[in-house]
Amino acid sequence: MAYETLLTDIQHGIGSIVVNRPDVRNAMNRRVMEDLHAALDAFREDDGVGVVVLTGAGEKAFVAGADIGELRERTARDGLAARMQRLYDEIEGYEKPTVAAANGYALGGGLELAMACDIRIASENARFGLPETALSIIPGAGGTQRLARLVGKGRALEMILTGRAVDAEEARAIGLVTKVVPQAELVDAARETAGQILSKGPLAVRLARLAVQTGFETDQKTGLVVERLAQALLYASEDKREGTSAFIEKRKPDFKGR
Ligand code: COA
Repeated sequence: MAYETLLTDIQHGIGSIVVNRPDVRNAMNRRVMEDLHAALDAFREDDGVGVVVLTGAGEKAFVAGADIGELRERTARDGLAARMQRLYDEIEGYEKPTVAAANGYALGGGLELAMACDIRIASENARFGLPETALSIIPGAGGTQRLARLVGKGRALEMILTGRAVDAEEARAIGLVTKVVPQAELVDAARETAGQILSKGPLAVRLARLAVQTGFETDQKTGLVVERLAQALLYASEDKREGTSAFIEKRKPDFKGR
């Protein structure tokens, strides 16, 4: 399917989404949000997609935030509609694992998009920041919540209140990204990470995400109950028998349960 603002393809179980507005540093306008919804819907229904990788077109930006031209016209009613926040919530709760490959500026809504993904890897030239207060707004697509959860309250407040962007190496040091690679290797690195996930038991991957994410949003006791129930489901699954048998028989597992 063709999108006005995205490039998508599917290869070896990896659904790739490239935000494609390089002239405006892949800024996120309403069309991009609508296209992202549609692309995620399509990948959700496609059994050929096991992992989704998101990145930006060109060499300068992942996504340089919300489109500031659109932002200028937004009303309080738009703020309450919180379209971008809801899109990113959908990404965080998406049925399939997501990897953000930050290939340049990930600012404002761009960093918020990356933070809604399960895993973030970066090219050496990437920069991460939440500069919204310079426009006299706040990060409103999860930024005030997810950044603090990922890097701690003090660092998040410093970044949000001063608008300071961190480079890729600092992002790795504070746990905002897990890996930094030269730009030419970013796509391969994202595919390698996605490939590692794809080789695992699909139901186990899905339930591991559910347990981690539920536990993160609730108390540990509730998280442990989800963990226990998820494990019970997996113990009863054919893929668990296949995974354990394959290990004992010294062969590659052939999982079915996607
Ligand atoms: N919304 C709309 N347009 C944007 C944009 C955004 N978030 N970010 C960049 N652009 C546009 C610029 O207006 C410029 O357009 P022009 O060619 O018509 O002048 C074009 O993209 C290139 O931007 P430029 O600033 O010249 O590129 P750069 O490589 O020197 O700097 C950034 C890149 C990302 C550092 C800089 O563009 C920037 O600070 N963007 C805004 C980031 C931001 O505040 N995001 C949060 C929004 S809530």
